Amino acid sequence: MAEEFWPPYGMNGGTAFYAGKAFLTTAVGQMVLQEGMGIDTASRIELAVGLSALQEVDGVEAVDRAGRLGLHGNAKTQAEIAVALAHRVGHLVLDSREEVDLAAAAVRGLREAGTYGPEETGAVMVRLTTGVHAGGHEYIATAHEDQKFGLSVTTGAAREAIDAIIAAPELSLHGLHSHIGSQIMDLAGFREAARVVLTLRHEVARDTGILAEEVDLGGGYGIAYTVADPVPPSPAQVARVLADTVRSLCTELGDSVPHVSVEPGRSVVGPSTLTLYAVTGLKRVELGEGASRLYVSVDGGMSDNIRPALYDAAYTALVANRLPDPAAGLVRSRVVGKHCESGDVVVRDVDLPADLAVGDVLAVPATGAYGRSMASNYNLFTRPGVAWVHEGEQGWLLRPETVEDLLRLEG
Ligand code: LLP
Repeated sequence: MAEEFWPPYGMNGGTAFYAGKAFLTTAVGQMVLQEGMGIDTASRIELAVGLSALQEVDGVEAVDRAGRLGLHGNAKTQAEIAVALAHRVGHLVLDSREEVDLAAAAVRGLREAGTYGPEETGAVMVRLTTGVHAGGHEYIATAHEDQKFGLSVTTGAAREAIDAIIAAPELSLHGLHSHIGSQIMDLAGFREAARVVLTLRHEVARDTGILAEEVDLGGGYGIAYTVADPVPPSPAQVARVLADTVRSLCTELGDSVPHVSVEPGRSVVGPSTLTLYAVTGLKRVELGEGASRLYVSVDGGMSDNIRPALYDAAYTALVANRLPDPAAGLVRSRVVGKHCESGDVVVRDVDLPADLAVGDVLAVPATGAYGRSMASNYNLFTRPGVAWVHEGEQGWLLRPETVEDLLRLEG
């Protein structure tokens, strides 16, 4: 993120951790590190790729390198927690009361192994459920109470975990975390969540004398997928709103301002990416009363983009291999994949040129976040490659999977 808006003006520092779940390879990790961001991971493999990016990246200070990594997850094992602690990642975000005990046990193991000194503590954060509900779809709104992530502030579960961390000689409370959902266009939810997080931070300090030094307000910034979407908030607007909110709440509470982090995923890799599909079939379906729809089949589908099937996500498509003849007119179309599912939709509604033909190429914009990263081998499709293009040059970020890659895994 460019320096003029991050860290947010007047803050006690700030860090943006790119949420690697959106799409992560070593090269992507290196790019975000070089932009000054950290990498947030949500599994041991994402963490391993993040570590590999850190080891190979040029131009990033060796000092505090692993501080640029984070580990999340609602079901971390002690071994996973131990790996994160051993590398001294900057954000180890605990998600349950049980994980507090697992982290303490992991630190004891690291002390015994000599990886940690006898007095060294594991710095951890706690994921809070703030009760704020925001986002594009119920499955991607994560801070309302009845779900698997985080510890409720309202019921006292979060406070219990925080008190257990403070009481554990192996651990130290580094910060508090909140992630309220995804594909959020209205920043009001972040203000609400920040109030809950900073109030709890204040109460903990009042009762224990420990003021958490960092607050992570999560990711979730929306992007435009189609022209019907509202204009999303810019990074500068987000930084300004978060900075103003945190600063004024801290003034109100009489607390010093924390280091503030965010975890954007989609907004980093979504807008600059697209999927290219070849048109493989055209079928006109009569809808009655003279209306019809053109079903346009392409050489991909729900295995490379599950989001329309999973979230009813809307995309659009454009002809990418030629300039369509305006005189041909437009036809109401639905772009569908090649899978054996009627829900295998790529673009539900789009007007495409009436002279569209088999062999044409369609571009579907903004597919880079949660497209390849949620891809599957359904119907034994091999997952597509991901190419980069920059100033006339190109290469693979991920090469296309082959049948041999799949057969190699057979027992
Ligand atoms: N931080 C945490 C703790 C998260 O759980 C997530 C997303 C992010 C950051 C990044 O959120 P973003 O800025 O990308 O919205 N697969 C879904 C979204 C689920 C995201 C889960 N967590 C989708 O395709 O829309």
